[in-house]
Amino acid sequence: MSQQMRPYLEAQADCVEAVLAAHRAPGHITGGTVGPRLIRFFLNPAPHTRFAAIKHLADDLALALKSPSLHVRRGEEGVILEFANPTPRAVDFLTLLPEVRPLQPATVLLGLTDEGAPLLVRLASPDVAHILVAGTTGSGKSALLRTLAASVVLGHAPQALRLLCLDPKGRAFRVLTGLPHLTRPPVVGVAEAIEALHSAVRMMEVRDRRGETPEAVPRIVVLIDELSDLVMQGGAAVSDLLTRLLQRGREAGIHVVAATQRPSAAVLSGLMRANFPLRLVGRVVSADDARVASGRAGTNAHLLHGRGDFLALGGGEVMVRFQVAYIAEKALQQQLTANVGVGHALHLALPTAPLKAEM
Ligand SMILES: Nc1ncnc2c1ncn2[C@@H]1O[C@H](COP(=O)(O)OP(=O)(O)OP(=O)(O)O)[C@@H](O)[C@H]1O
Ligand SMILES: [Mg+2]
Repeated sequence: MSQQMRPYLEAQADCVEAVLAAHRAPGHITGGTVGPRLIRFFLNPAPHTRFAAIKHLADDLALALKSPSLHVRRGEEGVILEFANPTPRAVDFLTLLPEVRPLQPATVLLGLTDEGAPLLVRLASPDVAHILVAGTTGSGKSALLRTLAASVVLGHAPQALRLLCLDPKGRAFRVLTGLPHLTRPPVVGVAEAIEALHSAVRMMEVRDRRGETPEAVPRIVVLIDELSDLVMQGGAAVSDLLTRLLQRGREAGIHVVAATQRPSAAVLSGLMRANFPLRLVGRVVSADDARVASGRAGTNAHLLHGRGDFLALGGGEVMVRFQVAYIAEKALQQQLTANVGVGHALHLALPTAPLKAEM
């Protein structure tokens, strides 16, 4: 938390306590968290204060805090009051990375959760394995893929983790050209993309046959931007190859991370969609798109703010809101040119100031 926020938070906490006391539902704020988008206060209600009474006062509390809305729920910390952070901030990847280094094997840093904790994703986990990224234009999908790629090249040795980058538009991964982590230069054309997917499937089969464990060979992340374009242009060949990678890639240490605006049945088969255990969903334009992007109802992804405001949706009910850590192409370029040719995990001159997410 920045020091400038402390007077604001203290004033807001006083305000909450005053409103509750005035309505004969007293309680004390005992702490809280400041996330990139949301502020949470932990409330300890007086013994006679009913939870329902606090919930009933949500609108009055929002009004007093000058916040568009306020959400009251129960949590481990007692009663939690949740309202919008009036100064939402971008999360800087290069500031956050030193906090979580060294990264665990095959783990990538994607952002900061609304609880203020770094969101780390372990690709090898069966709950992850493959990731589908969805969201409308400007939601921040390409930036998210770049963050994931930056996690790989700045956090892992090429002997451990590599990238195969496909982008039919041909711009998203240019900055990675020439790195030892790439299995080949970023692929732009559809014909070459099909050939690259073929080679990934062949590698999967060879690894299967030899019984190689992913610990002994580099894991490979197949990064695909504009998945729908690729599937529409590449037709059945692309769908077939991708489905095979999705169904059997994990055991062979091959993971698919693919971004698309709208993962609708018209473009992606049900089989394909069912084989992405983790979905990362950014802003979409309608409630219907929210359902298509999330693969389930009730996520409210159409109410997200865009520019890196995402939900992580795992199996079951798990849903985490997070802000994607941002690294501009130019900043990544600078990090990489300073370290060209380094054959191990790159150790960089990163800012060391810890990032405080807690109050
Ligand atoms: N995590 C982020 N933090 C801050 N700004 C972001 C973030 N992600 C994206 N942005 C901003 O939003 C712009 C659009 O992001 P991006 O190009 O990643 O969107 P997209 O979802 O890939 O859109 P399209 O579908 O049109 O390709 C970026 O140029 C950047 O300015
Ligand atoms: Mg994009």
